[in-house]
Amino acid sequence: MRDTNTFYITTPIYYVNDVPHIGHAYTTIAADVLARYWRLRGRDVFFLTGLDEHGQKVQQAAAKAGIDPQTHCNKLAPQFQELWKRLNISNDAFIRTTDPQHQSVVQRYLQQLYDQGLIYQDSYTGWYCTFDERFWTEKDVADGLCPDCKRPVEQLSEHNYFFKMGQYQERLQRHILDNPDFIRPESRRNEVLGFLQTQKLGDLSISRPKSRLSWGIELPFDKDYVTYVWFDALVNYVSALEYLPQGNPAGSRFWPANVHLVGKDILTTHAVYWSTMLMALNLPLPNTIFAHGWWTVDGEKMSKSRGNVVDPNKMVDEFGTDAFRYFLLREVPFGQDGDFSRSGMIARINSELADGLGNLLSRSLTMIERFAGGVVPAHDAPADTSLEKTLGQRTGDLLAEADAHVESLRFSRALESVGEIIQHCDQYIDKTAPWTLAKKPEQRPYLNNCLYHIAYTLGALVQPLYPFMPYTIANMARQLGLEPADAEKSLKWGDSSLLPGTRIQKAASLFPRIETAKPQGAKPVSDTSATPQPVPAAATTPPTQPTTSAPSPPPVPQQITIDEFMKIQLKTAKVLSAERVPKSEKLLKLQVSLGSEQRQIVAGIGKKYEPDTLVGKTIIIVANLKPAKLMGIESQGMVLAAGDADVRGLATILEEVDPGTKVK
Ligand code: MSP
Repeated sequence: MRDTNTFYITTPIYYVNDVPHIGHAYTTIAADVLARYWRLRGRDVFFLTGLDEHGQKVQQAAAKAGIDPQTHCNKLAPQFQELWKRLNISNDAFIRTTDPQHQSVVQRYLQQLYDQGLIYQDSYTGWYCTFDERFWTEKDVADGLCPDCKRPVEQLSEHNYFFKMGQYQERLQRHILDNPDFIRPESRRNEVLGFLQTQKLGDLSISRPKSRLSWGIELPFDKDYVTYVWFDALVNYVSALEYLPQGNPAGSRFWPANVHLVGKDILTTHAVYWSTMLMALNLPLPNTIFAHGWWTVDGEKMSKSRGNVVDPNKMVDEFGTDAFRYFLLREVPFGQDGDFSRSGMIARINSELADGLGNLLSRSLTMIERFAGGVVPAHDAPADTSLEKTLGQRTGDLLAEADAHVESLRFSRALESVGEIIQHCDQYIDKTAPWTLAKKPEQRPYLNNCLYHIAYTLGALVQPLYPFMPYTIANMARQLGLEPADAEKSLKWGDSSLLPGTRIQKAASLFPRIETAKPQGAKPVSDTSATPQPVPAAATTPPTQPTTSAPSPPPVPQQITIDEFMKIQLKTAKVLSAERVPKSEKLLKLQVSLGSEQRQIVAGIGKKYEPDTLVGKTIIIVANLKPAKLMGIESQGMVLAAGDADVRGLATILEEVDPGTKVK
């Protein structure tokens, strides 16, 4: 029986008939989040993924490429392995069904079932779908088409070996009824139950004559046949445990698996074929088989013929590993179908990663640097107001919610809970306005408390976010002074460990905003070659950031004529006074001199500059901008500054010039 401190998670093993796509990446990333989460919780995790190398699809793909199937598999396998590295997948093992050890386990099980009289030979005539590699009955087949893939079927008659699957119908039904978590989500559980309650479960043909298909594992009791690919593939989940886990005791301690993650299309093979096979082999059933939904692309089914297959490598090139991981698990509740679009991805990255997490970290660390010399200040608990108490309580509640969501595979909800913590912390900062407290020496103790609480809340984000975005969160932890060279090993569960006295190390922003200048003749998401690149990130941890190996051409900016440019009056201005706009962290109210006149300008530069530092400086303004009101205060012009949402620096003039001088 399985040790309760273990956690065994599997992905389907993928057919090597083509290169990996977003569907493969999706399941594998979800499995990785669970593996990393349970490792953090101290479980002994075994995370298995791999390749399904036998069967008709692979044989056909190899024939098309004009090479033998094994060479074909050997050529494609590294594409999966490389992609898993780029996506930072922490699988403990990688199984290939052509591994000799796996093949011998399959043969052993076949022999066992044959000896037990659970496999028999019979002749069979039916409608066969080559693509799905399965027979259909007369009533399944409408207009000569496969009910599943809608390709033409052909009538075939052959001798085959059958597994007595039908005799387990009632037992399986009972198992599903007694174990509400066995098939998830519930809608899928009901589908399988409905099928078992209304239709007779037949026996399963588990062989293919070699004359029709040679690429498979030979039946140990009849050399003229190979095993049906699903009988071979499903066994991987237990055969792997015999030879892949390192260490002692043996891998069998991991069985039964905690979770088999699968796509909804392969639920029946897992919930029915695999479960009955395990019953026949006298092995316990997995705890949970979770069927996730499918991605469409820009509203359409993803397919090679439509040319809209999303290549995960391109997504990593363009958006970085962690943003891609985050998007896939955040965008769609796990279990439901979802739509993938480039614009949807950019919107999420900008609002939740750049403006949300990234901005919170950067503004917080800036304040700790500026107001506390870069060291997390001491905490004087009695001085806490209700604001600190509420922040602490909400953070604690939301962290517990996030854990419960991950444990129930509600990844999107987990990220929502963490997002709420980020929002609360941002609101806390706006309410306490540490930059105002910093001006009043008598507020120093409370300012320290504020900075402490902000730092503590940031520290608390590390654990729940780490499984989703390991590179970024390791980087964030380093900036917070937590220094996890190996975050998984050094993070203690339940302890944010960001203590007073910790020296922070502010670095480049985690997620620069992606500019969304509309590309000329934008192409769909599957072809990113003509779309603009995000603002390149300053190097942090290299693999998280989009690579620059294949840069796309920059977007062509909208052009204006010299006459249009000359309409804009730029002038130098001297700052006479500056003050913060109440209740705004960003806005400063400046009084500037243009020589012959004085103007009031409201500028969004308050995160970068303390008002006092600007007095006496010569800056450049747009002098003929229509006046506008910002937070109710009139602004008669606009200052020029470098940077985007995050102002990097004000534009100024190299030489001393009089205020009001024209700039062109
Ligand atoms: N080899 C079998 C699995 C054997 S497991 C013992 C197989 N392989 S597959 O490569 O065709 O598919 C693997 C997974 O990709 C399935 O879980 C499938 O649901 C998933 N997806 C394929 N296209 C997908 C989308 N468009 N969206 C999400 N997942 C999709 O089946």
